[in-house]
Amino acid sequence: MPTGIAILGCGTIGASVATMLLRDHAIITRRSGQRLQLRHVIERDIAKARDAGVPRRLISDTFQTALDDPDTQIVIELIGGLEPARSLVLQALKAGKHVVTANKYLLAIHGTELLAAARKAGRALMFEASCGGTIPIILALTRGLLANDISRVVGIVNGTCNYVLTQMTEQNEPYADALKAAQAAGFAERDPTFDVNGMDSAHKLAVLAGLAFGVNVPFEAIERAGIDTLQDEDLGFAREFGYVCKLLAIGDKADGGIALSVSPTFVPREHMLAAVRGSFNAISVTGHASGETLYYGRGAGGMPTASAVLADCLDVALGSAERLIAQLPAFQKRRPAKFLPARQIVARYYLRVTALDAPGVLAKLAGILSNHGISVAGLTQHERRATPATAAGTVAAVVVMTHETTGGAVAKALKEIDALPEVAAPTVRIRVL
Ligand SMILES: NC(=O)c1ccc[n+]([C@@H]2O[C@H](COP(=O)([O-])OP(=O)(O)OC[C@H]3O[C@@H](n4cnc5c(N)ncnc54)[C@H](OP(=O)(O)O)[C@@H]3O)[C@@H](O)[C@H]2O)c1
Repeated sequence: MPTGIAILGCGTIGASVATMLLRDHAIITRRSGQRLQLRHVIERDIAKARDAGVPRRLISDTFQTALDDPDTQIVIELIGGLEPARSLVLQALKAGKHVVTANKYLLAIHGTELLAAARKAGRALMFEASCGGTIPIILALTRGLLANDISRVVGIVNGTCNYVLTQMTEQNEPYADALKAAQAAGFAERDPTFDVNGMDSAHKLAVLAGLAFGVNVPFEAIERAGIDTLQDEDLGFAREFGYVCKLLAIGDKADGGIALSVSPTFVPREHMLAAVRGSFNAISVTGHASGETLYYGRGAGGMPTASAVLADCLDVALGSAERLIAQLPAFQKRRPAKFLPARQIVARYYLRVTALDAPGVLAKLAGILSNHGISVAGLTQHERRATPATAAGTVAAVVVMTHETTGGAVAKALKEIDALPEVAAPTVRIRVL
């Protein structure tokens, strides 16, 4: 008996999943021993599904057709967004269907409720494609590294941002042009706000941290900054000091709790994540026994994401998905946890102070940092990057690299530094890995 499948939403990913089910069934069956049968494609725009090569008899604009079909065991939710996706997933579980989704937004906000509904219904809710596109990171966290206490998850999980940052770093392209190029290449959403403001990466971090640390992650617990406020000058300094700027999603199990953040971060050029270019994603996971492990691949795009969606469907067909969802504490018995606010997160920082090129300024900056217990690893003044002379004198960039300190200490020091009469613009602060 084949496993019957209904696809809800025939956009970029839905069309690729349909293509694979219709075209690649021989490969899928040879590799897995399972037969997956496309039975329904639910799409408002029937022409869109037809254009994707789906036979007319499989296309419908009403979900009930799939719910009423006893030979459809899996519903793949690929419409995106919160509603009606949430209601339709709940409806599918209630009707006794397993659900596969790529919707990280839905999982980050309603994951706990949906997993509880899956448990109640005795069905699987699988979401490999929700983080890192084709990368089997959920598999790694819930199977490959299952015997490990996981202390850290660090990822480049948004292909649009990584593409933009790569273009800015390697081609000196201005931010706006690089973003336009990402849109033209099909990496960015039509409205790329959630990409560039870090929201999409935060959704993925919520999903990954929940599985890695076995805790409920309230979305507000994630500190977030995007690439939309970065300045070209800082990418130049990153290059000069041996770093590459990446938008990193970081989950750390620290002494006092769990620290979750998404922010542009300077990554040492020799670090493996620095080599992740263009629209690729990579996620590093550190376990107490495994040490650091790294997972790399295409973070977006129709076929790469469809590959992960179908891996979930095969887990359902093989019977393993239902058991995992029912038994793994990371899916069902998550613990409450303490999350550290930004002021308690410990990290190294790059600070760029725009200061008058006057005697005594460097000593004042060093004094303020020291008063807040911030140890300076390096401090350099860059006159050649000076902006045009102001009425008060020449302005230069003073770059400070700190040792590890808390976000709170840095915030307090910067408040004092930016209030100095010699400081001409708000100081830029970027985390350093
Ligand atoms: N694109 C990627 O590379 C990627 C990678 C990983 C995960 N994902 C996730 O995968 C999901 C789908 O993404 P996508 O890029 O394929 O989106 P998309 O291209 O916008 O496709 C969504 C499709 O669903 C249709 N739809 C929306 N509401 C519907 C409803 N109520 N009933 C029937 N059809 C409906 C849309 O039709 P209309 O156009 O008429 O609204 C559209 O055809 C999202 O959760 C996304 O975050 C995407």
